[in-house]
Amino acid sequence: MAEAQARQRGGYAGEISVPAESAVRYEVDGEIATITLDRPEKRNAQTFATWSALARIGESLPGQVRVVVVKGEGPSFSAGIDLRMFTPEGVPGQGSFSSAATSDGTAFEQRIRQAQAGFLWLRRPEIVSIAAVRGHAIGAGFQLALSCDLRIVADDVSFCMKEPALGLVPDLTGTKPLVELVGLAKAIDICLTARTVRADEAMRIGLAEQVVAGDDLDRAVRDKVAQLLSVNRDAAVATKRLLQGARGRSLEEQSVAEGQEQEARIRALFG
Ligand code: ACO
Repeated sequence: MAEAQARQRGGYAGEISVPAESAVRYEVDGEIATITLDRPEKRNAQTFATWSALARIGESLPGQVRVVVVKGEGPSFSAGIDLRMFTPEGVPGQGSFSSAATSDGTAFEQRIRQAQAGFLWLRRPEIVSIAAVRGHAIGAGFQLALSCDLRIVADDVSFCMKEPALGLVPDLTGTKPLVELVGLAKAIDICLTARTVRADEAMRIGLAEQVVAGDDLDRAVRDKVAQLLSVNRDAAVATKRLLQGARGRSLEEQSVAEGQEQEARIRALFG
C-alpha cells in the first residue's frame, strides 16, 4: 500500500492519510490523538517527510481532539534529523541540505518554515500536547519534545541539542521553549556544549514534568491524559490561553485578561 491510512476509531469528519515515507503513525480515539514516529530501526530519525506529515496532521486535526500524545516506537524517541540529509545524495525523493545550500534565500526560508509548521501547532490553546520520551531525544528529537506542552519521560531518557556540535543552530522551534523552561544560562550550557541531559537533571531543571520507569511510561501518559480530560474543556482552553499569554503581559494586563476570560466563562455557564 503506497500510503498508510491514519487509523480512526473515534469517528470524525475528514480523513487524512499519512504518506508511508514519513514513517509517522497517527491515530485518533475520541478526544485523544496519538502520533508515533515509527522508524525504530533508524531510531526514528526525521526527514522532510516527517515534518510534512506532522504539519498535515496539525492542519486536519479533528475539532474534538483535546490531547495529543507524541511518542517514538522502539528504544529512542528520536535520534534527530536523518543524517543522510547532510549528504549530497540526501534522502531519496526528498533532497538534502547540501542542495538547499545553493538555493535562493526565499526558497530556503520557505523550506525551514514548512518544517517548523510540523512543530508549531502542538502549542495551540485548543489542545494539550504531551511528549512521551524514552531513550535518545537528540537535535530535532529534542526539539520535537520541546514543542509539546508537557514531557513525561522514562528514566533512561537522554536529551541532547547536538546542532551546534555539527555547525548548525537548533531551528525547529526549540530554542524559545528551552529558554522559557530552563532559563537562558542553562539553555546556553545545554546547547553550546551539546552535552547530554539525563532524567534526574531534566526533572530538576524543569525539562520534564514526570520521570517514570521505562515500563511505566505508557501508563503514566494514560493517567495524565485522563486527568487532563477530567477538566471542563472550554475552561481548559481559556486557561491555557491565559497561561501562554502571561509572560508577555504586565500583572495589570494579565489581570484584565483573566477578567475577560472569566466573563466569557460565567456567561457560558450561567447566562
Ligand atoms: N540519521 C540516520 N540514521 C540514524 C540516525 C540519524 N540521526 N541515528 C541513528 N541512525 C541509524 C544508525 O545509522 C543505525 O543504522 P544501521 O543499523 O543501518 O547501521 C541505526 O539507526 C541504529 O543506530 P545505532 O547507532 O546502532 O543505535 P544506538 O542505540 O547504539 O545509538 C544513537 C543511538 C546514540 C542515537 C546514535 O545512533 C547516534 O548518535 N545517532 C546520530 C544522532 C545525531 O547526530 N543526530 C543529528 C542531531 S542534529 C539535528 O537533529 C538537526
